[in-house]
Amino acid sequence: MKTLLIPALLITLTIGVVSPATGAAVNEEDCRSTITTTCTKCHGAVKICNQLKDTGTDAQKWREIITRMGKKANLDQAVQDTAHACLTMSADPRRLVCEK
Ligand code: HEC
Repeated sequence: MKTLLIPALLITLTIGVVSPATGAAVNEEDCRSTITTTCTKCHGAVKICNQLKDTGTDAQKWREIITRMGKKANLDQAVQDTAHACLTMSADPRRLVCEK
């Protein structure tokens, strides 16, 4: 009995972990170019990097910040959405915009 149960459990776990395809949705090159061409016109990447260090900044908070930036700079919704996805869903957002 036990010998059958363990492989069955492993399969269930693997499916459960792999199927929600998070993190794969952002293209790092697009992220870099979007952020460096639109988000660093008025201030350095350092503002974004400092914000990324603040772990209290969740997706909702980023949405608020990016909406405010979008109003200042008249950014298309699509650009705002890309920036938001990049800063909240890439594996390591700091690597996209911050100096090493
Ligand atoms: C039109 C100029 C301008 C553009 C373009 C711009 N910002 Fe800003 N940003 C500002 C100013 C000015 C501040 C200082 C706070 C304020 O006035 O809201 C700021 C502040 C910030 C902060 C600090 C946190 C805060 O809430 O103030 C972050 C993070 C930030 N910007 C991210 C971004 C991102 C991401 C983009 C691209 C989507 C972007 N900015 C594009 C002008 C801009």
